[in-house]
Amino acid sequence: MIHLRPAVAADISAMLAIEQAATSHPWTRNLFESSFGERYFNTVAVSTDSAGIEEIAGFYIGEYIAGEASLFDIAVHPKFQGQGIGQLLVDEFLAQGEARGASYFFLEVRESNQSAIRLYERSGFCQCGRRPRYYPTATGTEDALLYALSYQN
Ligand SMILES: CC(C)(COP(=O)(O)OP(=O)(O)OC[C@H]1O[C@@H](n2cnc3c(N)ncnc32)[C@H](O)[C@@H]1OP(=O)(O)O)[C@@H](O)C(=O)NCCC(=O)NCCS
Repeated sequence: MIHLRPAVAADISAMLAIEQAATSHPWTRNLFESSFGERYFNTVAVSTDSAGIEEIAGFYIGEYIAGEASLFDIAVHPKFQGQGIGQLLVDEFLAQGEARGASYFFLEVRESNQSAIRLYERSGFCQCGRRPRYYPTATGTEDALLYALSYQN
């Protein structure tokens, strides 16, 4: 069973562990710590096993400013991937952003990250730009693709 709830500062260690397990260039603890506060709306996905034991399976970091919501980070632990938790988190990001008054939603993604790109396109995001050589890789750099979704068409 999966349920979603707002992330709190006590979740940072679990979020950091997921980030480190799921990504090649993880955020630092400092970055997580600075991503809590008034303009952020962060969510964790909590898995409950058959014995009733809860474990954080994934999360997103969202920011709302002046009608725009940005998805700064999203990750699902590899052992929980491919079960629809990423989709649940993106849907929640859109719903929570909209509840705060957002009509524009933005995110950036590595060009090579095809599973994330499929998730965003399935959720209605369209590519609206590109930042050349934006992300470091093991051997150099790669482009960031900018994605946007507007509820004002
Ligand atoms: C991107 C990411 C968050 C997606 O999380 P996820 O929980 O695996 O996402 P979903 O389960 O909703 O979708 C993933 C795939 O599983 C499939 N899926 C979903 N539910 C399923 C189910 N019950 N049975 C089988 N497949 C399922 C989806 O169709 C999707 O397939 P596709 O990638 O071939 O299109 C995750 O891969 C991740 O943490 N990646 C590393 C961090 C990262 O790259 N973050 C994005 C930064 S921009």
